[in-house]
Amino acid sequence: MEIIKTDIAIVGAGGAGLRAAIALAEADPKLRIALISKVYPMRSHTCAAEGGAAGVIKSDDSMALHFGDTVGGGDWLSDQDAVEYFIHEAPKELTQLEHWGCPWSREPDGSVAVRPFGGMKIKRTWFAADKSGFHILHTLFQTSLKYPSIQRFDEYYATDLLVEDGHCQGLTALEIRSGQMKQFQARAVIIAGGGGGRMFPFTTNGAVKTGDGMALAYRAGVPLKDMEFVQYHPTGLPNNGILLTEGCRGEGGVLFNKDGRRYLQDYGMGPETPIGQPVLKTMELGPRDRVSQAFWHEQKKGNTVSTPWGDCVLLDMRHLGEKKIDERLPLVRDLCISYLGKDPVKEPIPIRPVVHYMMGGIHTNIKAATPLPGLFAAGECACVSINGANRLGSNSLTELLVFGKRAALSAIEHVQSGLSASKDAALTGQAQASETRIGTLMKKSAGTETIAGLRKEMMETMETNVGIYRTGSELATACDKISELRQRYAHIALHDKTHVYNTDLMQALELGSMLDCAEAVTVGARDRKESRGAHQRLDFTERDDVNLLKHTLAYYHPTEPPRLDYLDVVITQSQPGVRDYSGAKK
Ligand code: FUM
Repeated sequence: MEIIKTDIAIVGAGGAGLRAAIALAEADPKLRIALISKVYPMRSHTCAAEGGAAGVIKSDDSMALHFGDTVGGGDWLSDQDAVEYFIHEAPKELTQLEHWGCPWSREPDGSVAVRPFGGMKIKRTWFAADKSGFHILHTLFQTSLKYPSIQRFDEYYATDLLVEDGHCQGLTALEIRSGQMKQFQARAVIIAGGGGGRMFPFTTNGAVKTGDGMALAYRAGVPLKDMEFVQYHPTGLPNNGILLTEGCRGEGGVLFNKDGRRYLQDYGMGPETPIGQPVLKTMELGPRDRVSQAFWHEQKKGNTVSTPWGDCVLLDMRHLGEKKIDERLPLVRDLCISYLGKDPVKEPIPIRPVVHYMMGGIHTNIKAATPLPGLFAAGECACVSINGANRLGSNSLTELLVFGKRAALSAIEHVQSGLSASKDAALTGQAQASETRIGTLMKKSAGTETIAGLRKEMMETMETNVGIYRTGSELATACDKISELRQRYAHIALHDKTHVYNTDLMQALELGSMLDCAEAVTVGARDRKESRGAHQRLDFTERDDVNLLKHTLAYYHPTEPPRLDYLDVVITQSQPGVRDYSGAKK
C-alpha cells in the first residue's frame, strides 16, 4: 500500500476543511497539508447553503445580543465559553472572506448588507443573494489554490483513523478512481466531513452527507455528542426537500395555513405583524425548532393544505415583488419554477419542514480538539456546542470558518508539542487491517441483504420515529430497529467487484456510517427524557434543567448500542431562562 507522509491531514474539503487548510498554509508554508475529500471540493454541501452567515457588523448590534440569541436559541444547551469565542471571531472571519473576494450583497451606501434571520433580535446575517454557500465555498477554494503546500486528494474516501501510542497519526483512504487503499501518515488529523442528514429520507442535505467523518472518529473511540438534536428547517420544497432559504422570510415572506391565517401567532410567535415589514425574532422569524413544531400542530389540527406531495403550508412572497425577488432570492425563484412549476412572484409556494442540520457531532472542546490527542474536528461533523439544542440559521456558515481556523491552529500547536511519530511498521499494520476490512466487504457477494433495502428501512425508521415530536415507545422501536439493521449490515451483498469508481462499495461504506450515527441519535433521544430545542418528547414535555442540563456523549461499540455518558454544560453568564419569541418589547 502506498504511504503518503504529510504533516496534517484534513478529511473533508467543504467550508471547514478549506478554511483549515488555508489557515495551516498561512501559518507555516513549510507544513505539508493533505486535503482529502470524497468529492471534488466544489461539490461539498457548503455549496448548497443559501441564506447567509451571522456576525456582528452594524452599529445597532452587539456581541451581547448575538450571544443572547445564540444561547437562548439553543435552549441553553450551548457551551457559553465556545459561544463567546465564536461571536467575537465571527466578524473577523466574514471580513476576511470579503478580503479574499467573497461578493457579499451591499447596502445602497456600499457597505455590507445584512438581513434578518430566524431567532435573531437584530439583522446580522451577511449574504450573497441566496447563494451564500456557493460564493463562500468558491472564495475559499480559489484562495486555497494560492498555496502550493495544500495537496489535494479529491475523490478519496477516508476509511479508518490510525491511532498509535495514544494519539491519532493518520488515516487510511480509498482512492475511488482506482480502488487502491492509501495510507496517510500525519502528525495531526482534522475531520471536517459534514453532517449525516441523509439517514433521513426527506432532507435538504446533499447525497454526500452520510456522516462519514462522524463515524470515523466514533469508531476510533471518540464520543459523539448531543446527536439526538436534529434540526428540521421549516421551509423545504415538498417534493424533493430542497431548501427554500430562511432568507425568504427574512426578506418578508409569510406563512399561511389553508384558511389564509398566519398561524405562527397561535404558537407564541405573535402578535401578527404587518405583511411587508420585515420582523425580528417573532412570527415567520421565530427559531426553526418552534416554526417547524407549529407546522406539526397545524397538520394535526387539519389546517394544512393537501398537495400531491403531502400536507403543506404556504410560503407567500408575492408582495415582495419581482425586482426584489430577483435581486435577493434568485435561486429560490429558480428552484420553485424548476421543481414545482410555481413562480413565487405570482403564487404562494407549498412548503413543509425538512431535516436540515445536526446539532450533534464529534465531541470537541473550544479549541476544536477531540479527546483523542492529535485529532481535531470542525464544521457540522463536530459538536463544539455553540448550537446547543437548536442552531440559529446562519450561525453554521460562520461556525465552519471560525472553528475550521481554530482546528488548524490547534493542530499546529499539537504538531509543535513534539510528540514523536510511531514507527512505520505499527501504522502499516493498522493500515493493512483497514485494507482487509474493505477487501472483505467487497467480497461479500453471497449476502442476503441489499444496501438499498437496509438504507430504506433505516430512513423509514428515522422518519417515522425520530421526527419533530418523539415518544418513548417510538424511540424504543427506533433503537431496536437500528440495532437490528446494524446486525443485518454484516450480511449485505455487493455485486460490483471492479475497482474503478465502485459505487456499490461507496454506498456500502456510507450506509455503515449512517447506521452507526443513527444509533447514536436514537439511543441519545430515547434516554433524554425532556423536551429541549429540536428534541421534543410528547411524553416528557418540559425542559429539565435539574437533571438534563447536560450534553449526551455516545461511545461506540462494534456490535452493541453505544454506551451513554453525560457532561455538564458550560455556563459563563446566562442561566437557563424562558425562550420568548412573542415579539413583546423588553
Ligand atoms: O435557510 C437557510 O438559508 C439556511 C441557513 C442555515 O442553515 O444556516
